[in-house]
Amino acid sequence: MDNDDFLEAYLKDRREIVEEALQRYLPDEDSMPQELHTAIHYSVFSGGKRMRPILCLAALEACGGDIATAMPTACALELIHTYSLIHDDLPAMDNDDFRRGKPTCHKVFSEAMAILAGDALLTEAFVLLSQAEKVRLPAERRLAVIQEISFAAGMAGMVGGQALDMLAETVEPDLDGLEQIHRRKTGALIGAAVKTGAILAGAGEEKIKAVGRYGANIGLAFQIADDILNVEGDSGVMGKNTGSDAARGKVTYPSLLGMDRAKALLAKSVDEAIDSIALFDARALPLRVIARYVMERNS
Ligand code: IPE
Ligand code: IPE
Ligand code: MG
Ligand code: MG
Repeated sequence: MDNDDFLEAYLKDRREIVEEALQRYLPDEDSMPQELHTAIHYSVFSGGKRMRPILCLAALEACGGDIATAMPTACALELIHTYSLIHDDLPAMDNDDFRRGKPTCHKVFSEAMAILAGDALLTEAFVLLSQAEKVRLPAERRLAVIQEISFAAGMAGMVGGQALDMLAETVEPDLDGLEQIHRRKTGALIGAAVKTGAILAGAGEEKIKAVGRYGANIGLAFQIADDILNVEGDSGVMGKNTGSDAARGKVTYPSLLGMDRAKALLAKSVDEAIDSIALFDARALPLRVIARYVMERNS
């Protein structure tokens, strides 16, 4: 089996495991209030790539952990990510109509319900992370995971990055400023995904640090790829509109560097991610092939 076949089979298998666990952890769609739960199900089960949970599981595997112990964390990451997308698409933010191949949450439900669905998903993620009965893990590991994820999702990470991203629509950032935005709005949660995988597996300091460097590089690469796809991608394949960054006058890697240099920087970040985990054995193959996929993905 070559790496492409391996990657395809790996992603398919992990996506199925994640879908099944999300179904299990979330309340039924017809729970009360039904409008809220329908909006939550609409956005969560809409064909996302599930990259953050998959990265968490891949890092755990690279460190020799048992996948079952990481499912609540993997799913919590996806709930936080889905909340961030619902809010990111709101009229007050990016005002997007199309996400994951469907009309955005606020278009189908009300803006109020989309805001509340996001709020509920963020909060529920921490319910999941803190529920001791879900898996038997030492309390210190669970606490370290909660710290990583809350830090990455909050003002020092994603929310701070989203605020910088909004402010950058009026005061254009330079390259350093843009890197900060990307590292925080997208890189932080992706970094937390792989670091928590390593923490859950009981990895030592050296491996957690190495995986953290992998995550920081892959997180930056992921958003550079998103910028490139916003210019060159096929909106049908991606399930969201392209050309929207230019339409909003957003500063992006391609707009600041030109497409060729943006692609070169993407490749460099991916190489650095792979170099960061050089000390790992063959169990890190999923992390290695996912790094290439981040660069080559078309959705
Ligand atoms: C899109 O994330 C938003 C960014 C942070 C770049 P994904 O590309 O992971 O979106 P889904 O989850 O597959 O829809
Ligand atoms: C999304 O960034 C980042 C988060 C939701 C945290 P973008 O606004 O650039 O991503 P898309 O293009 O809407 O997916
Ligand atoms: Mg945005
Ligand atoms: Mg957006």
